[in-house]
Amino acid sequence: MQTFRTAAAMSGWAALVILAGLCTAPYVAGDAIDWDAMSSPGSIKYSGDGTYYGQQSGQDDGAVCGFGKRFANTLGAEWSTGVQTFVAMNRPQYNNSEACGQCIMYRGTGAGLGMLPIPSEWQMGMVTNVCPECAYGSIDLDKEGDGRWKVEWYPVPCDVGSGTFKYYFGGQANPYWFMFGISNTRYPIAELKLRSFDGSFYSLARGWNNMWAANGGPFSFPLVIQVTSVLGDTVTDTIQSTSGGDAKAQFPKRALTGPAATPASGPASAPASGDTAITAGGRRLLRA
Ligand SMILES: *[C@@H]1O[C@H](CO)[C@@H](O)[C@H](O)[C@H]1NC(C)=O
Repeated sequence: MQTFRTAAAMSGWAALVILAGLCTAPYVAGDAIDWDAMSSPGSIKYSGDGTYYGQQSGQDDGAVCGFGKRFANTLGAEWSTGVQTFVAMNRPQYNNSEACGQCIMYRGTGAGLGMLPIPSEWQMGMVTNVCPECAYGSIDLDKEGDGRWKVEWYPVPCDVGSGTFKYYFGGQANPYWFMFGISNTRYPIAELKLRSFDGSFYSLARGWNNMWAANGGPFSFPLVIQVTSVLGDTVTDTIQSTSGGDAKAQFPKRALTGPAATPASGPASAPASGDTAITAGGRRLLRA
């Protein structure tokens, strides 16, 4: 009520702006995920439904972000320290794969229906997939479970340690066309540019499957790329061949600023069944 009274005292235009703000979700500041929140973890929380999709009769082992088992064969690997669960992000916040590789802290709030509640301790998840039918704020967990539970979550940097990007190629690369993905990023990628033969850089198109496609060519390796994170940091690196592999680059670590920079209860120990969690998830296969 207070808000409406205040609004009525202002000019019509200001009141309209405030009312429009009230009608949208409380957390949104323009981006599908508020990336600034990664400098101040916990400052912005999203909420929605949490569901489970894991352990469906072994069709897809990669999930749509394409990381697959390539570099994520154990959840204890350097690039995913602390990650306990892979997560399918709702479609609006997946944003055509921009959210791939994003780490999040999530927990159940206790409300919901089903046999296996999502625990109320904070856990770390990593976005490796999309949940097309999930509403804004909702996440689908790549693990066995039952029910639909209210969850809250917020974005955090991935704990990549001293690890660098990893490159992997898809399809049949040739001198005129190739497609590749990048995993093990501290923050998600917003833009990727390739250096062309005349020295200029141009943006590559990103697919729903988190792959970057280059066509036109002819291309020759080594290739120089510029990768920009969702926080705006740009790093330059060289891909030696279509074998992919380890990079030299990683996004610089940003200082944490928020009062809630350390969640009250951080990630617990990694689950014993890491590999199983990754191999699950048949119905998410949406590869082009
Ligand atoms: C979706 O991703 C693109 C590419 O990274 C970005 O430019 C755009 O701002 C994002 N949209 C939202 C709503 O976050």
